[in-house]
Amino acid sequence: MTMQWRMLMGQRAQQMSSSIIREILKFAQQPDLISLAGGWPAAGLFPVEDLADACREVLSGASEAALQYGVTEGYAPLRRTLAEMARAKGLPVDEGNILVTSGSQQALDLVGRLFIDPDDVVLVERPTYLGALQAWQAYGARFVSVPVDDDGMDVAAAEAVIAKHHPKFVYVMPNFHNPAGVTLSLARRRQLLELVRRYGIALVEDDPYGDLRFEGEDVAPLYALDAASLAAGDPGSVIYMSTFSKTLAPGLRLGWIIAPAEVAQRLAKAKQGADLHTASLCQVLANEYCQRGLLGPHIEEIRATYRERRDALLAALARHMPPGVRWTQPQGGLFLWLSLPEQVDSLKLLEDAIAAKVAFVPGTAFYADDGGRNAMRLTFASTPPALIDEGIRRLALVLKKHMEAVNA
Ligand SMILES: Cc1ncc(COP(=O)(O)O)c(C=O)c1O
Repeated sequence: MTMQWRMLMGQRAQQMSSSIIREILKFAQQPDLISLAGGWPAAGLFPVEDLADACREVLSGASEAALQYGVTEGYAPLRRTLAEMARAKGLPVDEGNILVTSGSQQALDLVGRLFIDPDDVVLVERPTYLGALQAWQAYGARFVSVPVDDDGMDVAAAEAVIAKHHPKFVYVMPNFHNPAGVTLSLARRRQLLELVRRYGIALVEDDPYGDLRFEGEDVAPLYALDAASLAAGDPGSVIYMSTFSKTLAPGLRLGWIIAPAEVAQRLAKAKQGADLHTASLCQVLANEYCQRGLLGPHIEEIRATYRERRDALLAALARHMPPGVRWTQPQGGLFLWLSLPEQVDSLKLLEDAIAAKVAFVPGTAFYADDGGRNAMRLTFASTPPALIDEGIRRLALVLKKHMEAVNA
């Protein structure tokens, strides 16, 4: 009898989706295609020499810690380093609040494991990070959403949605949002905290891009704002997460969660069943790299490159795009969001764009519902300025043809 694998799989398997971005990336491997699609940091910016040097030191010195099993919570010196970095951002935490994860994608998954029962509601932004939807769909989450504008999540719209749907938590990307590129204003951060406290629900603050600011002032993390106004004994409402993926290298698969101690402990239990602990070698290496004082200067360096590429993308859009197309003005991060005239379908546009050797991610990939048809995400991260201009020139040509066709 032929094995019927599908029949054996649990209900969860039906809820797992594959990322359209990963499908697009397959095309994006063509050598002459200019990809403004993938969310990958620029490989040319990885600090290879410094990492190699730190790695040699780690393997000759702290080799046992690097090669042996470790504790689930994470390598203690790295947790202390992360706590120190967090305190510098105004989060009043110590290592007891920190759980090292295998990328912040695992942080999202662990939050799902701990909090989501089938049919529980999660409030997300429109658009939102596709990986969070994928992670939580697998636990049977239902999504409700509120729009994003130039100041981030529309918090005023969130209240009615919370009152109606009683979500377990709100998921927000406060800095240089993926995909929208926008930043949640300080006033809205305060309003959002007031709201989640009033309704007794949690707030998941996903911050992979906060260190990649090119201009303007840092805005206080929601975790820090929350902690600053807590009454004695109140553990706070926020779970914060970040990652080394965009500042150092995603191949390390190193992220972390910062949470009230009781939540951090529970998340560690959830992690134990998933992978015992995050790779020791990567943790010890990242800690050595940070302790050598290399991270700050490295971030300065990559910011300069990303700023130059962001400027090139903004200039190219202004130069080539037809009237009726709008885009966000990111002050940091890796992404920008392009809104097209109502009738243009970015999925259809993508086929022609790939034929014209330029790629982007259609807006629909970032919606929990069927929104985003006339929008797209562009990244400037991995493309040198001259190629960005050529890519946008090609894209604008294809787009003009589509606009003419739908207006005909
Ligand atoms: C908003 C957001 N959260 C989480 C992740 C996952 O990052 P990683 O697992 O590499 O830390 C990403 C990656 O693109 C992201 O954009």
